[in-house]
Order: sequence, then C-alpha cells, then structure tokens
Amino acid sequence: MNPHTIPHQITKSPHLNGPLVDHAKGQHFLKDAFQVILEEALCRATDAKEKVCEWRDAHELRAVLDLELRDGGESHDQLLQRVRDVAKYSVKTNHPLFFNQLFAGVDYYALTGRFLTETLNTSQGVSEKERDRESENDRESVREGQRECEYTYEVAPVFVLMEDVVLSKLRSLVGWAEGDGIFCPGGSISNMFAMNVARYRAFPQVKQQGLWAVPRLAVFTSQEGAVPFLVCATSGTTIQGSFDPLDSIADVCERHGIWMHVDAAWGGSVLFSKKHSHLMKGIERADSVTWNPHKMLLTGLQCSVLLLKDTTVGHVPSTHFDPFHTMCL
Ligand SMILES: Cc1ncc(COP(=O)(O)O)c(C=O)c1O
Repeated sequence: MNPHTIPHQITKSPHLNGPLVDHAKGQHFLKDAFQVILEEALCRATDAKEKVCEWRDAHELRAVLDLELRDGGESHDQLLQRVRDVAKYSVKTNHPLFFNQLFAGVDYYALTGRFLTETLNTSQGVSEKERDRESENDRESVREGQRECEYTYEVAPVFVLMEDVVLSKLRSLVGWAEGDGIFCPGGSISNMFAMNVARYRAFPQVKQQGLWAVPRLAVFTSQEGAVPFLVCATSGTTIQGSFDPLDSIADVCERHGIWMHVDAAWGGSVLFSKKHSHLMKGIERADSVTWNPHKMLLTGLQCSVLLLKDTTVGHVPSTHFDPFHTMCL
C-alpha cells in the first residue's frame, strides 16, 4: 500500500478524522488558569505577609476539596476553582518563610522553561554523543566527529543539544575536560546508576551473565570475603551539610583501584561559589558525581544529574555506549 494513502476506514473514523480536543476552549481555560496560577501560586505564595500554608488535617481537607471522581466532567468555572483550591491548600515552597534544605525558591526563567518543556511534551533520555571513540574489542569505528543521532534527537532536538551543553558545563565545574552524564529523576536514582556503572566497570560480565557471575560485592568496605568496588563520599550531607575530605578519600580509592562516587546532590552547587568551592577540593578525582541543581540552583524539582568522568565504561562489543543499559538489577 502507498504509505501516503490514508485508508478509507481511518478517514471515516469519527475519532481519527476530527480533533479529540477542543483547542479553542482548552486554550481559553489555560489563559484563565495561568492567571490564577500567577496570582495564587506565585504572587500570594511569595508574599511574606501571606501564610506558607492554609493547613487542614487530612479529613477536613478531603471534605473541603471534594475529591470524588465522577463520571461527568466539570465546568470551566468549577475547574478554575479547583486550580484555586490546589494553590490555596498546598504548601508554598517558594514562600520567603518556607525553609527546607531541598528547596531553593522560585526562579521565573527556570519556571518558564518548565512550562515550556511540559507543554512541548517531548521525551528525552540518552543524549546525542560524540561517537569518535573506539573500544579495544569493537573496531566498528565511527568517522571522526560524527554524531550519532539517537531516537531522542529526532523527537527533542533543542533539548538534546541543551542537555549536552549543560552537562558539559557541570562537568567543567567538577574539573573534567570530557566525560558523560545524564539527567535523572532524583539524587537517589543518580547514586544507584553510579553504583551500576561502577559494578560494570569492575565486573563487565555482569551484563551478560547476571549477578551470579560476580563475587559478593561491598560498597566501601571489604569484610567476610566481599569485594569492595565503590566508595561513596558525600559533599553536603542532607541534615548537617558536612563535606567529606575528597582528596584523602581519592587517595584511598586510587591505592585500591576502587570507583569513587561523590553524592553531591545537595552540596554540588558550592562549585559555583568562589568562597565555598574549596569544600569540594579533590572532586575532579572522582569517577562519578551526583548533583541536584534543584536544591541550590533554583531549578524546579526534580532536576538531578549523574556525571561520569569516563566516556568508555559501557562500551562493549556491538552495543551502543549506554551505561544505564548495563544495569542488571
Ligand atoms: C546528599 C543527598 N543525597 C541524595 C539525596 C536524594 O535526592 P532525591 O530526593 O532527589 O532522590 C538527597 C536529598 O535530600 C541528598 O541531600
């Protein structure tokens, strides 16, 4: 069949032959909802004279919100009221009197970026990579400078290029001229990915043969026959904000050939500070770093990144470089 010919049953389908959404009505609602968001979730929510939260206990709040899921839809005005209620009864994390180490407040340009990405609704995952590397085993070399366009470049060209630039900037702050990285849905999962990459580096057979093919592993310490493969240092502990001495830890890791990961989810942003960046002296000696820009850099939740010094750790015969596919959980 000619791929450009649309089958008769499709053109006649009431669902596929007409818009599923009333765009004019939807955009009218969005304009009104934006106004409410601006007034209630931003102007009032950042006004120190207003409350951080209109607190209600769960049973009261359930009654006030009327959360029953009904078969029929709701009107424009009812839905707008729901937007107001969500803003009213939620905790205003952008309020000047809201204090928590995980939140930094609102940055309007970052927020605009979030609106834009949500609206465009593209998917992203593996960034476009320079493919000018060659592994020992895999001589399937790639032209110098050739870029491999992965699926995500086709669907999100602008964001993929932006991701490359941001990851490169973050790596340069860590002190690496090259490397790799990926944005992740949180610091915990970034740490998990780092452990997977470190395990793969120590025992590549784990990818093909699974966990039974590797010895019992230990993070940081070796006891009762377990093999240490990773040390996880912390730059900025969650409660007290203390920083581990990275240079001393790197000395130990280098001596024993152990992967050094730094959980800088909270503290990483001191690398932007002339006054405080010394707290992370030695970070460039790490193999991988977790960093959550949503904590101190005013990007919204969740914005977490895993940075890798090595660009080859996942490169095995006839596979793409993708350390995250080496996971054998
Ligand atoms: C040092 C540290 N590591 C990891 C995490 C976990 O990050 P996430 O909540 O993004 O998973 C946090 C969050 O508070 C943290 O402070």
